[in-house]
Amino acid sequence: MFHILNVDDLATDFLLDLWNLALVNKGKRNSKLKNKIITNLFYEPSTRTSSSFFSAMNLSGGSVIPINNVQFSSVSKGESLQDTILTMSAMTDAIVLRHHEEGSALKASEVSEVPIINGGDGKGEHPTQTILDGFTIFNSFSESMSNLRITLVGDLKNGRTVKGLVKLLSRFNNNHFNFVSPEHLKFSDKLPNSSYETSDINSVIKETDVLYVTRVQKERGSVYNYELKEEQLLSLPRKSIVMHPFPRTTEIPNSFDSDSRAKYFDQIKYGVWCRQILLEKVLLT
Ligand code: NCD
Repeated sequence: MFHILNVDDLATDFLLDLWNLALVNKGKRNSKLKNKIITNLFYEPSTRTSSSFFSAMNLSGGSVIPINNVQFSSVSKGESLQDTILTMSAMTDAIVLRHHEEGSALKASEVSEVPIINGGDGKGEHPTQTILDGFTIFNSFSESMSNLRITLVGDLKNGRTVKGLVKLLSRFNNNHFNFVSPEHLKFSDKLPNSSYETSDINSVIKETDVLYVTRVQKERGSVYNYELKEEQLLSLPRKSIVMHPFPRTTEIPNSFDSDSRAKYFDQIKYGVWCRQILLEKVLLT
């Protein structure tokens, strides 16, 4: 079965094909999934990921059963993840699962009768965010993912989107990574070969092609507060891009949103384009 559980499972050729199709299709409507239904099963809050799957499914003519408030579902009566997965796999063709426990998507895939798409598993991974983040870079740097200086800033310990992006970009040649965080929120996975760790963004911002900003994950126990100043962001190279998976809190001032380097709203649009192609691949294979 075609589960989407983590980034390591996504072959580079598969991703390049998906991105090329997304670039051609650009979210155009079709009816390829008109007989398909998916479940959005979200145990953690979501605005973008759940709506993006909803939108993507609609663009291909399919339907979604949204279970976004598990407190109003049988989960509140004590139903196990296994039973909820078996229930929804008896009536839908795939399940997008967001859950607070790392490893939950894998667990779900072991019992599910239909493909599981990991929409974020605790501090684990968020592979469809990695797909859209990768696409944003692919699209911004003339379809190349190599020779980039990537600066990741914020809660690198508990933010799941950083993990997947580092895994993905490590596959390509000559990428350099700057990890910027306070000591207690340092990136805890294996560092790529060409890496530099610092707590001072000013030491690397001028040598950055991709600035990937993340929020502090308070719900996962992180304590820290930071704000990038507009002047700092304006000192980025002209051809660089600024990304953020969102939601943002205090990290990026709204005054930077109109700068051509700000790509965080494009990321959201690209998320729909990519998820549409992904759903077609998962549901029609
Ligand atoms: C991220 C997530 O849920 O991991 N949001 C998203 O899906 N775009 C990032 C976050 O919550 O900080």
